[in-house]
Parts: sequence; structure tokens; C-alpha cells
Amino acid sequence: MNKITFKTKPNGKLIGKLRVPGDKSMSHRSIMLGSIAEGTTEVKGFLNGEDCLATMNAFRAMGVNIEEKSATELSIHGVGMKGLKAPKSDLDMGNSGTAMRLMTGLLSGQSFDSVLIGDKSLSTRPMNRIIKPLKNMGGGFETEEGGRPPLKIKGRNQLKGFHYEMPIASAQVKSAVLLAGLYADGETSVTEPGITRDHSERMLRGFGYEVKTSGDKGQNISLQGGGKLTASNIDVPADISSAAFFMVGASIAKDSDLTLEHVGINPTRTGVIDILKLMGADIRLENEQEVGGEPVADIRIRSAQLKGINIPEELVPLAIDEFPVIFIAAACAEGETVLTGAEELRVKESDRIQVMADGLNNCGIDAQATADGIIIKAGQLTAGTVDSHGDHRIAMAFAIAGLCANGEIIINDCANVNTSFPDFIALSASVGLEVDLG
Ligand code: S3P
Repeated sequence: MNKITFKTKPNGKLIGKLRVPGDKSMSHRSIMLGSIAEGTTEVKGFLNGEDCLATMNAFRAMGVNIEEKSATELSIHGVGMKGLKAPKSDLDMGNSGTAMRLMTGLLSGQSFDSVLIGDKSLSTRPMNRIIKPLKNMGGGFETEEGGRPPLKIKGRNQLKGFHYEMPIASAQVKSAVLLAGLYADGETSVTEPGITRDHSERMLRGFGYEVKTSGDKGQNISLQGGGKLTASNIDVPADISSAAFFMVGASIAKDSDLTLEHVGINPTRTGVIDILKLMGADIRLENEQEVGGEPVADIRIRSAQLKGINIPEELVPLAIDEFPVIFIAAACAEGETVLTGAEELRVKESDRIQVMADGLNNCGIDAQATADGIIIKAGQLTAGTVDSHGDHRIAMAFAIAGLCANGEIIINDCANVNTSFPDFIALSASVGLEVDLG
């Protein structure tokens, strides 16, 4: 594999305006739903990162014509609910848990068998969380030991509607069950133990499919199988998970004043803003509007002295992908930050609790991993070498840490930044974050 190293420079500040690439969750879903819809779906703002390209290649391999009008604009010629064709070879989901889990739901309702494979990291990630409910719906699967990929998915099973009380707050599990539910007899429903991102529900509705939500927090979600999706136009906003790196960067780097444009601020994704505000960040939303069923805003961030906090557990699912860079904010704050209730971080693209604790320790910070979180004592970040373990968000988090460090941080194994943030280095440089490639 092509090993890429990042090298940071101390004393940067972030100034100006930036539009980060499109939302990863919505980009995956636009391909999946556009492919099984009737008619042509036009997508703009698509994230052309490796994860979403894996999803795109998989649907092309199942006979869907997807035209790339530009890097971020697609025309997806939907084949209808029953129009996908058996792929001739295994479908490679690369590094993407979202692609593998959502597609497993969708493929379990097809009339053909399929096999999903992934890279080294994805091949170690837990899939029983989706296999279990999908088996209850009548899906047939073979996996490696412990439910690990490759996943062999048997087609030709008529799925039955099912109610799933989800044991973990996971949008991927919810979405896999709902996508299978499109192909099931009767009603499929889930109850979430904590609110998770609702892009599947919103986008299904955008394609004309009825999805009901109930419960005081909207935690019960249901749909009837056997309907159809009608093509829709999708405007994918900038990804708040990519914007988060710069929210932290502009907070911790002195004299920064940065505006992140057209960022998706779906309330199931804005935990990072809430957490940074609790830490004392100066973050303002401007130009708030609704675009294609999703709220969007420009986010202006100015430097501020952050303070350590106990992160409220109910914010964990709403900021699940942003913790690597939130830990950097904690390292640069005053006092101690404590995270609990976040064991899910141990089964992301890497064990994000341990890998971040190790990286912070290597850069002079007292960070202690716990079973379900971390305790970080703020201090002076120093020069150091960090292994990202091929995890895109760890790599970018430490690139941001460079703004506050008093020496060079060397970050190894950064190639996977391309899974979610193509052009990270060039876009960062355009607002004052200089990172060299080694
Ligand atoms: C995602 C859901 C989250 C998140 C992932 C994208 C999605 O995973 O970490 O990056 O698009 O549904 P979980 O739902 O497993 O927490």
C-alpha cells in the first residue's frame, strides 16, 4: 500500500473561507437510493472520496449506469427496485463500514447472491450487528468467524417485516434494517436507544417513500415494504465531519477567523458544535437554510480559549465521527476533559480511543484510555510521531494538532485521508494550514 506521511508546521492560523467536500453519509445514500429508484437522479456536491466511489463501483457492477458529469456531479439512471443485476465478481467496499453495512441490508432483499469484501481494517470490523436483525427478517448470510467480512449474502429470500429493538445507537444498523425493509413483506420498524443520523429516513422521503417516525425523541422509525422510489435531485451539503477538523483548528490556532461554507447541520450530526461550544468555542451559524430536506449553514469560527469538560453522553452518537479532533481540542484546552459512554469508538476504522491516546502521549499530552472513553489533561503539544493506523480521521486530527504544537508532528500511514477528504492538503493550505507530504 502506498504509505503517505504528513508533517505539520507549528504556528499556523486559519483565515478565510472554505467549502469542504460533500457529506459522506449522504453521498453513499444518494447512490444507493438513486440506483433503485425509477428515473434519473441528479446529484451535486457528491463526495468523490474512495469510500463513496466504492459504493458507486458496486452499483455499476450491478448494472446501474452512473454518469460522472464532473467530480462532484452525477446522473444516476435508476433501475427500479427490482432492476439490479447479479455482479460478476465480489463487491469491494474498501475501507467503508457504511457501504458494507447498508449494502448488506439492501442486497439481502435481491434475487441474486453477492459477496462483499473490504480492506484490512474493514475485514476486522463487526458485522454481526447487522447480520443478526437481517437474519430475523429471513436474510441468509455466511461470514468469517465472529461475523467478519467477507460477507456472502444469499438472494432469493422473501424477507419479512420485523421490529428491531436496537441494542446500540447506530445509524448503519438502522439503515441496513430499513433498506432490507423496502424488500420485506409488511412493516419493518426499529427503535433506537439513542438518536442517530437520520439521512436514510430523510432521503427515502425525498424519493417519495413513506417513512414514519414516532416517540418523544423520534426514536421509533418504520416503513412498509414493497413500495417504489421515484428519482429525485440531491444537493449534498459539505460534510460536518470534515468541517469539524477546521472548527477545532480555527478554535485552537491564535488569531484565526474562518468561515466554512454550506455545511450540513442536520441536528443528528451537530454534536461537535454543541461540545465545542460547551468548551467555550466561538462558533456562529450564518445563512441558515434548508436544501433538499436537509438544514445547511455557513459556520464561522474564531479563536477562543477552550476549557476541559465532561462530555455529555447523550451527545456521543451525535458526534461519533468527530471525537479524534475533539480530543485535540481537549489537549489544547485548560484542564481536564472526560469522555464516557463511547465504546463504539473502539470499532471504527481503528480503535480510536487507543490510537488517539497513544498519539497524544507521543506528543507530550497526558491522555488515558478507559474502557468506554478517555481522560485528557490539557497541556503543551510537542513534536512527536504518530501512527494513524490507516485511519483517515486520526491522520487529519493530528494534522490539526500541528497548529498548536511547538514542534513538528509526523503522522504515518495517511493514504486513507482520501477515503473521506480528497484534496485535504491543498484545501487546508488555502486557509493557512500547512502540511507537508513525506
Ligand atoms: C454512518 C454512521 C456512523 C458513522 C459512520 C457513517 C452512516 O456509524 O460512524 O461514519 O452513514 O450511517 P454508526 O452508525 O455505526 O455509529
